[in-house]
Amino acid sequence: MRTALHDVLDVDHPIVQAPIGSATRPGLAAAVADDGGLGHLAVTWRSLDGTREVIAETLGTTDGPVAVNLALDDRTTHHPTGEHLDAVLDAGAEFVSLSFGDPTPYVDRVHDAGATVFATVGTAEEAREAAAAGVDVVVAQGWEAGGHLQSEVATMPLVPRVVDAVDVPVVAAGGIADGRGVAAALALGADGTWLGTRFVATEEANVVDDYRQRVVAAGATDTVRTDLFDEGWPGREHRVLENSTVETWDAAGRPPSGERPGEDDVVGASPDGYPVERYGDDLPVAGATGDTEAWAQYAGQSAGVTEDVRPAGEVVRELVATAERALERPGADA
Ligand SMILES: Cc1cc2nc3c(=O)[nH]c(=O)nc-3n(C[C@H](O)[C@H](O)[C@H](O)COP(=O)(O)O)c2cc1C
Repeated sequence: MRTALHDVLDVDHPIVQAPIGSATRPGLAAAVADDGGLGHLAVTWRSLDGTREVIAETLGTTDGPVAVNLALDDRTTHHPTGEHLDAVLDAGAEFVSLSFGDPTPYVDRVHDAGATVFATVGTAEEAREAAAAGVDVVVAQGWEAGGHLQSEVATMPLVPRVVDAVDVPVVAAGGIADGRGVAAALALGADGTWLGTRFVATEEANVVDDYRQRVVAAGATDTVRTDLFDEGWPGREHRVLENSTVETWDAAGRPPSGERPGEDDVVGASPDGYPVERYGDDLPVAGATGDTEAWAQYAGQSAGVTEDVRPAGEVVRELVATAERALERPGADA
């Protein structure tokens, strides 16, 4: 499955473990990279020192390619993006992915460091702007994706429009969790695939087990697109598993922020003991305590296609084997 992605990136397979916020960690990114995909760290919510440390640890663990993601939306960033990007590049990142904002001001800085820049877009117009700004790879995220969202369009109609709009490699994100989805994205003209929810359900993901198991148990209709978990990142819609917080708010007639049931509830604590509020944007990382079912458990409609928890390298191998079969013989069983 050689694609144009291979021209900018030394990967064996057109498979990217998406940045999945605090669920990323060195062991996950390295496992994917070791098996021929692109691993990813998401560092937006880390300190600058923590950013340098996690990148150094990861690059010391694998010889494969690893990207580092920064979200650009200043409603959630903790540091000026320029400073954070300097920390990422100084730590040796060769691949940087930027999402939820305009990448233009940062492209030259990444290129000056000799690194490659990916930017996530939600429309063909945004893709054109990103390519014109010099972005090396465009990631088209459809609205069925898990986590925070930047599109009103599903992956299937979005990807062909983005592919038509730009000359740089395009990676499809949202709704892909098995090899048939990989094959479908390549058939749409994408050069790679970007999977988030599927990698939440891996042994290496930095999440509490309850979250992994709920992803596996979920059907495709068990997620909601909402702006509910807005403390920490207001005004940006996200897709999460339906849970008791969503159901209680729904039953109360979906009141606006400030008037929701249990607005001041503390539903648990982060591993370092910080309280997590009911409508907080924290995902339940490994070591979190309390009622983690009630937290934001980010997942896409691809949860309906995610059927087991596996080691991440095995996920990559299975995706590749099944995609190859599907490309040879459309309609092949997964
Ligand atoms: C748990 C979780 C956390 C996420 N965190 C980030 C993030 O930090 N930065 C980002 O650009 N996208 C983030 N996303 C979106 C993913 O990168 C990706 O676009 C999405 O997962 C693709 O859809 P899928 O979940 O159907 O595979 C997150 C997604 C999930 C499920």
